Amino acid sequence: MGIAYFEDNRVFKIDSKNSSYIIALLGDEGLVSHVYYGHKLKSHEVNYLIHMGDHPGAPAKDSSGRAGFIGGYPKEYPTNGVGDHKEDAISIRDKKGCFSLELFYKTHRIYKGKKELPGLPSAFGTEENVTTLEIECTDPMSGLIITLNYSAFEDADVIVRSVNIKNGGRDDIHLTRALSASMDFENNDYDVMTLYGDWAKEGQINRYPLSYGGHTVESCSGKTSPLNQPFMALLSKGADQDHGEVVAMHFVYSGNFLAKVQLEHYDRVRMLMGINPYCFDWLLKPGDAFQTPEVVLVRSEEGIGGMTRNLHDFYREHMIRSKYVHKKRPILINNWEATYFNFNTEKLVSIAEEAAKAGIEMLVMDDGWFGKRDDDSCSLGDWFVNEEKLPGGLKPLVDRVNALGLKFGIWFEPEMVCPISELYEKHPDWAISIPGREPARARNQLVLDISRKEVRDAVYKMIYDVLKSANIEYVKWDMNRALSDLYSAELPPERMGEMLHRYVLGVYELQERLTTDFPDLLLENCSSGGARFDPGMLYYSPQIWTSDDTDAVERLSIQEGYGMLYPLSSLGAHVSDCPNHGTGRTTPFETRGIVALSGTFGYELDITRIPEADRKQIPDQVKRYHEVNHIVRDGDYYRLASYASNHRYDAYMSVTKDKTEAVVTYVRVIHRMCEHDVIVKLKGLDPEKTYSIEGSDRNYTGEELMYAGYCFKTPWASGDFKATILHLKEV
Ligand code: DGJ
Repeated sequence: MGIAYFEDNRVFKIDSKNSSYIIALLGDEGLVSHVYYGHKLKSHEVNYLIHMGDHPGAPAKDSSGRAGFIGGYPKEYPTNGVGDHKEDAISIRDKKGCFSLELFYKTHRIYKGKKELPGLPSAFGTEENVTTLEIECTDPMSGLIITLNYSAFEDADVIVRSVNIKNGGRDDIHLTRALSASMDFENNDYDVMTLYGDWAKEGQINRYPLSYGGHTVESCSGKTSPLNQPFMALLSKGADQDHGEVVAMHFVYSGNFLAKVQLEHYDRVRMLMGINPYCFDWLLKPGDAFQTPEVVLVRSEEGIGGMTRNLHDFYREHMIRSKYVHKKRPILINNWEATYFNFNTEKLVSIAEEAAKAGIEMLVMDDGWFGKRDDDSCSLGDWFVNEEKLPGGLKPLVDRVNALGLKFGIWFEPEMVCPISELYEKHPDWAISIPGREPARARNQLVLDISRKEVRDAVYKMIYDVLKSANIEYVKWDMNRALSDLYSAELPPERMGEMLHRYVLGVYELQERLTTDFPDLLLENCSSGGARFDPGMLYYSPQIWTSDDTDAVERLSIQEGYGMLYPLSSLGAHVSDCPNHGTGRTTPFETRGIVALSGTFGYELDITRIPEADRKQIPDQVKRYHEVNHIVRDGDYYRLASYASNHRYDAYMSVTKDKTEAVVTYVRVIHRMCEHDVIVKLKGLDPEKTYSIEGSDRNYTGEELMYAGYCFKTPWASGDFKATILHLKEV
């Protein structure tokens, strides 16, 4: 286990739970070469795999064919301009205006544990469960010192990678590309898998054969964006939920990203991930260093499901810091779809009264409580209470809600300002815009330049004062537009390319302050739904609002996609009213409840106005949540069937780690007249155990349920959108 260096053949061997990763130093120069990432090996002597072409042994500097060698050998961190003409991981502009650099091994360090990355979210572990390797390299021409970091986790098939780039020379250097990870390896007839989407359509799974050329997913919007997830996987041909090899990268970052895979004519693959070079240009003065964010490198030999369970465990144990990570979250009711901007204290209290009767545990007041905000035309940035809506301020409202036995939560959009606001009147220069150019507004708002400390401090003070003014136990941190018109008044022209990354660092700094000053606060991130759903945000908040599409049918594919990567306990999921405000579809209240139970669970409706028959079901849904949430929250997740691909039904389950309990969700979306009962083979149970299923007239063995399957009955003419939830318990 752990990480070792073998002097005999100058090889580093990094072992995670079931995988080995091998790096070799080539020649006297110490070129850092990727050798192997696969099934765990006892041997470290596999650098015979490295393609030397016509260049056996050391790649001597004076070799007449050096360019061929440089182009061909598999690299750990390809550099620009010295003979490798594929996508590079790092590029610079030096004082001569040149782009080229090379990487030569200088020294290395191996130690137990893992360092934090200052200012950035980063995976954490203890000296018992993580080992770190730092390979320090230099580029003598530029004086850059480039340190490749690898941390291997003993309890997960995960290696976390990042790079530190320091200017050890005497001249300024512009870093124009600084990715976090790259790997070169042989093609294995791979498929590529990524997630695409849009607002209200996040997390759609996209799988396609790897072909020659390159495949890219990226964000250029300054935030993660719903268009692509910072994730890319390679799957061996035919890999499915249970079988086959999967190698994936997932980026711990909340801004512009690039994920790319290239297949070249020699049938070799390069896979890279990092900050998108788009609009990126970081000035390194002599002595300055740049730290890239981390990439989570995950590997599974048990198909996509194996990757999913690996990532879920990893994020729960090594990324989410919140004390709520393993705790049951309060069932909340959010007033957004209930009232939109049209509410006051009495309306909120009336919702809280009904909610309390039904067993709901927290009221969340969404957008519209501050400034003069009655619609989306004004007031972002004015984080003080609108006393016309909430007379006497927050405290009287919160006290009344607390007196009903409910906690209270509040919505902010801290990174924004509306041109119609007191904040903008005082500080128009705090909004991101280019002098002389009219900035593009979105939803009537502009983005605050929170790369600037004075702007961060001012916004934070307003939020802090609000949170101190009453007993507020939850914050929903929203962010509802992409960045444009990039210019920061504080940055000189030669540093303008730093702005987008400095903006993301500003978000992280603010959330760090918030969670430090209010350690008991439950923070939920959000960005027009799930537009900033990424591992970086998980570091600060244990849950993220998944999508503004709350339709139970639409949620199946959205939650399938994000649930493939993120623990279900992090997926914000609410029961909303019907016809659904976004799709106009009417689904049974029961189905909406069952679908939301596989996330954080809550309500987003006017409980005082929904049909009596629906309201009466809430206490049962609440009871069900308390019965099964520990399984959903901390269990192993198995995908059984996908409505997105079979167009009929969806099925998935969670099993406790000791396999004594499970919860199975089955949604028959479309009912066809000729349809038979559907038999679904369950997964992850103990074949030797016997399980009871509530409401069933017999017990089943794990063997029966996994190999023969469970039969979901399809009564004649029973309609669409029907859902069943099964709670299995060992007898
Ligand atoms: C977008 C969020 O996703 C919604 O849930 C809601 O909070 C609105 N913003 C409020 O403006």
